[in-house]
Amino acid sequence: MTTTLITGGTVVSATGRTQADVLIDGEKIVALVSPGSAALGADLSATADTVIDATGKYVIPGGIDAHTHFELPFGGTEASDTFESGTRAAAWGGTTTVIDFAVQTAGTRVQDGLATWHQKAAGNCAIDYGFHQIVGGVDEDSLKAMEGFVSEGITSYKMFMAYPGVFLSDDGQILRAMQKAADLGLLTMMHAENGPAIDVLAEQLVAQGKTDPYYHGIARAWQMEEEATHRAIMLANLTGAPLYVVHVSAKQAVEQLAWARDKGQNVFGETCPQYLYLSLEDQLGATGDPTWGNFEGAKWVCSTPLRSRAEGHQDHMWQALRTNDLQMVSTDHCPFCMKGQKDLGVGDFRKIPNGIGTVEHRMDLMYQGVVTGELSLERWVELTSTTPARMFGMYGQKGVIAPGADGDVVVYNPNGRTSISVDTHHMNMDHSAWEGYQIDGHVDTVISRGKVIIDGNQYLGAKGDGRFIKRGLSQYLI
Ligand code: URP
Ligand code: ZN
Ligand code: ZN
Repeated sequence: MTTTLITGGTVVSATGRTQADVLIDGEKIVALVSPGSAALGADLSATADTVIDATGKYVIPGGIDAHTHFELPFGGTEASDTFESGTRAAAWGGTTTVIDFAVQTAGTRVQDGLATWHQKAAGNCAIDYGFHQIVGGVDEDSLKAMEGFVSEGITSYKMFMAYPGVFLSDDGQILRAMQKAADLGLLTMMHAENGPAIDVLAEQLVAQGKTDPYYHGIARAWQMEEEATHRAIMLANLTGAPLYVVHVSAKQAVEQLAWARDKGQNVFGETCPQYLYLSLEDQLGATGDPTWGNFEGAKWVCSTPLRSRAEGHQDHMWQALRTNDLQMVSTDHCPFCMKGQKDLGVGDFRKIPNGIGTVEHRMDLMYQGVVTGELSLERWVELTSTTPARMFGMYGQKGVIAPGADGDVVVYNPNGRTSISVDTHHMNMDHSAWEGYQIDGHVDTVISRGKVIIDGNQYLGAKGDGRFIKRGLSQYLI
């Protein structure tokens, strides 16, 4: 067993900050010690195998990104990050746990989808990982399969009100799955957009010759997100199923969540960095022309879509993170290259694979909220690590720096700077949705289950370091 001591830093948790040294023994955190204390009987910095000087820096629990899609088949292609490349990129950005989505579609067996995801991930991950289960085909077989989720360590599953013919569940199917989930204590994750109506709008736009990437966001109007969010809330209300709405981008959808929460319903919401920083207007470029930049706007095609800045959605998302109307920030990391993938949609935005890649940048982008005064340091840790751990049944092992927790620790330098570019990122993408971002703060050191995997500019991890985490029930509900 090797021991690691992190000295001189400010340990930040969801509830406060303190000057303390952190001792990791093997894979676990074993002590937080007042600096200079000899209570443990020895000069720890003389006896630890590795000493990391964190003076002037923050020592935070490793980031948990609860929404990634590695190797996801989508739109006739596959998300371009593998479990190997994606988890390595996550590590560079201070994320030490991801929860990816195993996929089941209509006509296939849930158990087979889950087994496929285990095969993709096992032995390939740089950091720990768990799975949610996508239930894309609700029938007797998949409803029965849900009964086995908890023992598999899969305590949350996702359904889609969008993507007809691919993932969509109709209201009756959603009702049935939610009834089952309520019985089993599972958390229902919902992609809340009215897919059938969006498809009509998209078809009409294309018929009018409006085929550029910008029109993706016009077809996926905020009314479609608000309506679906409300419907999901009401179905959850009826069935008693706790609900977690993923990738919320419309302020009207947040209002629906706040309304339900105010009534006492167990409803939660996640947003993503793209909905805080990027906008529909970005897809028009500087000239305000939908045909701008030779298909550039496809970089930012994702669902739910980027929203209009003029309508104030981004400001509302920051506000909702402050007021706890939204509880978490994940990335919905779903990368596709422009060449050979996004360009499938040249001439028809409906064929652009949906997704943005951000797994490497979430901790830094959210730290900007601290820099600009939108978030406290504690809220930053809560949104990016502690709440994901609690929401998805890992708290205690993950999401906190405390004795007994896994040695997943990030030393974050508030005086560092981070530049984002396709030339320097570690994600398997030929572009960056965040090209040119120069931001305050830097991930200096990343420790995953006691092993230093990022040391300054050096990657010391290896594929296979990461283990599957069997998650418990959501700790928000018990
Ligand atoms: O654009 C997105 N979000 N792609 C991934 C699939 C999903 O809906 O999460
Ligand atoms: Zn989705
Ligand atoms: Zn997603």
